[in-house]
Amino acid sequence: MSIEKINAAKKALEFVKDGMVLGLGSGTTAKEFIKLLADRVKKEKLSIKSVYTSFDSKIYAMQLGLDIFELDQVENIDITVDGADVATKTALLKGGGGACTREKIIGYAAKKFIVIVDESKIKDRLEGKVVVEVVPAAYSFVLKELQKISKASVRMAGGKLGPIITDNGNLIIDVDMEIKNPKDMELKLKNIPGVVENGIFTKFDMIIVGNKEGTRVL
Ligand code: A5P
Repeated sequence: MSIEKINAAKKALEFVKDGMVLGLGSGTTAKEFIKLLADRVKKEKLSIKSVYTSFDSKIYAMQLGLDIFELDQVENIDITVDGADVATKTALLKGGGGACTREKIIGYAAKKFIVIVDESKIKDRLEGKVVVEVVPAAYSFVLKELQKISKASVRMAGGKLGPIITDNGNLIIDVDMEIKNPKDMELKLKNIPGVVENGIFTKFDMIIVGNKEGTRVL
């Protein structure tokens, strides 16, 4: 695993205190954080409750011995730590792993949302694949609406015939675009009937960028 991701995860771990409820992100960088967290919980005998953003993170955290809860079983979330596919100072693209809906719920619901990335994720412009999670019954309508905005296609699975089915039983449409005004586009996509959530994130508190030497805050 890359030292850049580990350094970002280590820095985020410094914000964790005994008794906290944490939101666990998804993806390889978030998994570094989950592993370091589990090590620290064991070593320091901390009492930490965790809620998860994907089935993948849930299984990983459980295997490492962390105490996992559903969102409705905790009062609130103190800190969520998650990765990103693209990061600018003011907005992120997430959901490359298909988990943007739970990631946004658990990220936005937290008192503090910390994003951990390596330098390769930092861009001047918010550009790339915008992930849109859509109720299956609405996919053809949503696809047409999205194609009015830009090039869009239903994400196909690997290792399964047909489209990817998310942890929430929905489909994913990927839209290639450059986003000039992230807040407007986040709301515009959200407003299409049948759309559950999208991968444009505009509410977070800190981006920790890991590099070979250590970290910097964007
Ligand atoms: C999952 O759906 C994504 O939002 C991930 O958080 C994002 O893809 C970052 O993953 P990596 O840390 O593996 O790059």
